[in-house]
Amino acid sequence: MSVLHRSLRKTYPIAVRGKGVYLWDAAGHKYLDFSGSAAVNLIGHGNRKILRSVLRQAEKIEFVHTSQFNTGVAEKFADEVLHFCGPAFNGGKVFFTCGGSEAVETAIKLARQYQVESGFPKRNRIVSRQQAYHGATLGALAASGNKRRRDVYVPLVKSEAFVHIGMPYCYRCAYKCNDCGRKYAKELELALNESKGGVAAFLAEPMSGATLGAVFPPEGYFERVAELCRTHGALFVADEVMTGWGRTGKNLAMHHFDDEAMPDVVVLAKGLTSGYLPLGAVVVKKSVVDALEKGSGSFMHGFTYNAHPLAVAAGHAVFQAMKKERLVQRAAALEGSMRRELEKLLDCASVGDVRGKGLLWAVEFLSDKKSKMPFAPEMQFAPRVAEASARRGVLVYPMQGCVDGMLGDHLLLAPPAIITRDEIASAAATLREAIEEAERA
Ligand SMILES: Cc1ncc(COP(=O)(O)O)c(C=O)c1O
Repeated sequence: MSVLHRSLRKTYPIAVRGKGVYLWDAAGHKYLDFSGSAAVNLIGHGNRKILRSVLRQAEKIEFVHTSQFNTGVAEKFADEVLHFCGPAFNGGKVFFTCGGSEAVETAIKLARQYQVESGFPKRNRIVSRQQAYHGATLGALAASGNKRRRDVYVPLVKSEAFVHIGMPYCYRCAYKCNDCGRKYAKELELALNESKGGVAAFLAEPMSGATLGAVFPPEGYFERVAELCRTHGALFVADEVMTGWGRTGKNLAMHHFDDEAMPDVVVLAKGLTSGYLPLGAVVVKKSVVDALEKGSGSFMHGFTYNAHPLAVAAGHAVFQAMKKERLVQRAAALEGSMRRELEKLLDCASVGDVRGKGLLWAVEFLSDKKSKMPFAPEMQFAPRVAEASARRGVLVYPMQGCVDGMLGDHLLLAPPAIITRDEIASAAATLREAIEEAERA
């Protein structure tokens, strides 16, 4: 076996087929994809229409470099992306990448260049949040607070340019949920004041994805955050890699908040192609584009494969399928079933919290419910639940570190929106068996 895998101790099943919400491995096992891989797939696996659209594009032109050519399909999809993101992005532009980390890197560099070209060269700090995950590349990792994924690389990513503040997590709220939306926003205000006008951008996930697991912010938080960014001239960048493109039952998770909370830049990936091809996007407001246009007239950034014609063709085709099958509305409509079925798990000895929106959910585990004590990390509780669940034919996404970056176990559940209510009920029942098995061990 020659592929360098994430784990060198584990043998991974060989995936051979996907159809709808199901995947099959080479040994003939069938799995219900209850996590959409890693909150990627919204339209289901094996959709022939997407594959045919990509093939049609490949027959015309498989690749051109963005320094030499534009393509019709990139322009068409960029238009659709802007429209989908809403009126705040009228007249804006989209920069396509190959995934979420590249898109976050792009947004960070764009924010810095925007500030320089707007006459604020001292604005060089990126403020983000302690329990955030923004990607695996060094810039995105520097902005991330996810301790587990970051610790070994700290010597490479430690920089005064990256500042981390606290983030709302109502289940373990630092302010005991006493006006916590305002108090967490105050942490941003302090960072902005402390920088003396030196912040280029504030970067945040609207709902925490990988690190905390489907945590929705308290009322008023993002409205205040956006206001502070406007006052201090910092760009507000919403990392919607996991939450965007319909996953939470609205086009963007930022659409759950008031209009004045809308960010200047939105970062997308994952659901943008439902995983059919690698694609990310940085969606930029007109005012930001205008600053570059009036300034140097160029964006000092680019990847060989940005706006790859096959990837944007996949994005365009996935978007058509989502519209036709009304999958954003379906993600919203299935929220009740997810809540009902997953909340039944709260009577398991180890389940402390169930939370989510649309089709992005998390189950947090505890070793002691009364004190909210997490399991010791070496017990590998969430990974063991995931393994027991996969053995029973249901795939979930296990994570550790929700309490402080190292402690805390949870599962992320993010099925394709074509899942049925019966499938949700049966997946949750299987999950209960898996949790009970992990509790017994
Ligand atoms: C919020 C968020 N940002 C960025 C990333 C990185 O995206 P990618 O893994 O496509 O590079 C992720 C991945 O999970 C994510 O959840």
